[in-house]
Amino acid sequence: MAYEHLKLANEEGILWITINRPDKLNALNGAVIGELDRAFTEAAEDDAVLGVALTGAGDRAFVAGADIAELNTLGPEAAREFALRGQEVFNRIERMTRPVVAAVNGYALGGGCELAMACHMRVASSNAVFGQPEVKLGLIPGFAGSQRLPRLVGKGRALEILLSGRNVPADEAERMGLVNRVVEPVELTGAVVDLLKSILRNGPVAVGHCLEAVNYGLDMAFDDGCLLEATLFALCASGEEMKEGTAAFLEKRKPDFRRN
Ligand code: COA
Repeated sequence: MAYEHLKLANEEGILWITINRPDKLNALNGAVIGELDRAFTEAAEDDAVLGVALTGAGDRAFVAGADIAELNTLGPEAAREFALRGQEVFNRIERMTRPVVAAVNGYALGGGCELAMACHMRVASSNAVFGQPEVKLGLIPGFAGSQRLPRLVGKGRALEILLSGRNVPADEAERMGLVNRVVEPVELTGAVVDLLKSILRNGPVAVGHCLEAVNYGLDMAFDDGCLLEATLFALCASGEEMKEGTAAFLEKRKPDFRRN
């Protein structure tokens, strides 16, 4: 079934998912969230997808937030459902076992900042602007921004951003660890592809297990996270990929993970 609000293109194993509502700065309404759910679910089941790059259409916004026109109509029950649904979809993105990189090409506000944070890594153009301005609307984040932001930048910085609702320019976002790197707008696509390719040349099973160890382990007690790590380490040792990687090192050649 075709997508109304997303554009999808697989370029050499990298699936580009572009949120395509530029006239509304790619704001997330229920329909967009539903399509993101479908796109990431299908991507997770598609062997031709080795990694995902997520971006927004146009040159002004990644995503300027949840759709405020839709928010304006919500009562408490619908608001809770909306938040839980968004959290479910964003968790699905975070729990992908193939790398997901946000290509942040402008405003990443509210739900846009939350969506970028659900991705595994963020590359931003120098004109990108981050923020959680929900308090200005009499709201708080609903798509786990109050949980992911402090985990990424620390409690004090997160509270300042959440409570003031102020904009965070790209260079400051980089300094505080909210984004991995900042590049000129014309270099954004190339920088995201370079980052993904630097990951995709490694063992895909190991990359997947690394993502699981970090994503699940961060929310566990330290000892439980270590046990998870040891178990995933053991799983690596049960497969062909580890044999190929270690043999290639000993034979002084490049590993060929794709033949496994
Ligand atoms: N929800 C719904 N529509 C949005 C939107 C959002 N989050 N963000 C932008 N839009 C729409 C605007 O209403 C406008 O639509 P219109 O042309 O039909 O009036 C269009 O996108 C362009 O936005 P505009 O405000 O005219 O652009 P701008 O350059 O003057 O300002 C922003 C850009 C991002 C600063 C401003 O749009 C904004 O503050 N957006 C809301 C950010 C926010 O609070 N997000 C969190 C929501 S929980």
